[in-house]
Amino acid sequence: MARLGELEEIELKIEKIVSGGDGFARFEGIPFFVPRGVPGDHLRVRLFERKGDYARAEIVEILTPSKDRREPPCRHFDRCGGCDLQHIEDARQVEWKAAATIETLRRLGRLELRPSQVQIVSGDAWGYRMRTQLHTTPALHDEGVERDDRETAPLVGYFGRGSHDLVPVEACPVLVPELEREVVTLGRRLPVDAPRRIDLALGDHDALSVSPVVGDLPHGEIEATVGDFRYAFDSRCFFQGHRQLLPQLVEHVVGEERGEEAIDLYCGVGLFSLPLAERYSAVTAVESDRLAMRYAQKNARRSTKRNIQLEAKSVETWIDSLPSGVDRVVVDPPRDGLTAKIRLGLVDRPADRLTYVSCNAATLARDLGVLLTAYDIQSVALFDLFPQTGHMEIVAQFKRK
Ligand SMILES: C[S@@+](CC[C@H](N)C(=O)[O-])C[C@H]1O[C@@H](n2cnc3c(N)ncnc32)[C@H](O)[C@@H]1O
Repeated sequence: MARLGELEEIELKIEKIVSGGDGFARFEGIPFFVPRGVPGDHLRVRLFERKGDYARAEIVEILTPSKDRREPPCRHFDRCGGCDLQHIEDARQVEWKAAATIETLRRLGRLELRPSQVQIVSGDAWGYRMRTQLHTTPALHDEGVERDDRETAPLVGYFGRGSHDLVPVEACPVLVPELEREVVTLGRRLPVDAPRRIDLALGDHDALSVSPVVGDLPHGEIEATVGDFRYAFDSRCFFQGHRQLLPQLVEHVVGEERGEEAIDLYCGVGLFSLPLAERYSAVTAVESDRLAMRYAQKNARRSTKRNIQLEAKSVETWIDSLPSGVDRVVVDPPRDGLTAKIRLGLVDRPADRLTYVSCNAATLARDLGVLLTAYDIQSVALFDLFPQTGHMEIVAQFKRK
């Protein structure tokens, strides 16, 4: 069998996509991860990273392309690090990402799901994103040489694939068209000394929020309507980005149940807290980011219900207050998932129903190792909130054992 250290260029056949979007192949038993490999591709690849028992490799030549390969629709895809999967047909991306997510939950989380327990939800694969994070770099110019604003304007774009080199963009077709228009014209509206990182978010009626404050670009609060609720937020806070799927995500997370007490951990600006308050007599919502909490307070105040108790602290600080046997807990942590203290709290004092919203199958799978000691899985819904990337949003519903 070949030793990884001796390999340079080899030929591979890609078998599948793994969570995150890389192609996966085996060479003499060794797992290889190949960015932008498509199941069915026959490739010549070059190793660029060797680990103990696996390797990462880049494509040198496509010897025989998969029948599911396509010409990437965006002209920047080759260099831009924003998207991973534009070279795969849209429907295939969803199918393969779902399979990769289920496989990660099975392999790392020992979760065996019946097909009837899994739901896949997809929507617009293009023109869907309402938020983006851009980078800038000053335009190169020679002193004393007259230029028009196109030449002196800072360059605006995304980091390149696997690098921090700026790839200036003249199009970004995953953004909703109103936001894409803002992005491609942004450079011309920025001062020469523009901030290196700029966040943009779009709300109702095309209202734009840009941060940090730069020139006379609109900054600060905007509003988005999701289902029956209105949420104030700005480009500095977390807010889900898929315009079309957002109402379905909220409906699915909140569900049909009603009850006395619900807890919304990592509540952000209150996306789930407000609809939970329609179905439960009392809702406690916990968030550590001060700005998000300020908006959560505003959003809760404006809703017709007065039954949301907001806790401006970390979930780690709050978790000792979790009573045993509440009707419902919703957790929606960042990519790192739950910390050990939270996992133990949820297991020591289980809720009747637990909903875990995750954007990272690997950390969800790790957390399942503890959670499944106290809960049974009911269902898993996979929302394709990030088409053209390797990511999937997972909503796992549990019931107390
Ligand atoms: C994935 S977002 C979810 C927000 C909200 N549920 C939504 O869907 O809009 C995670 C949120 O958790 C907050 N957060 C991160 N770590 C936290 C912690 N240790 N305690 C409390 N909140 C935390 C972040 O500020 C962010 O608002």
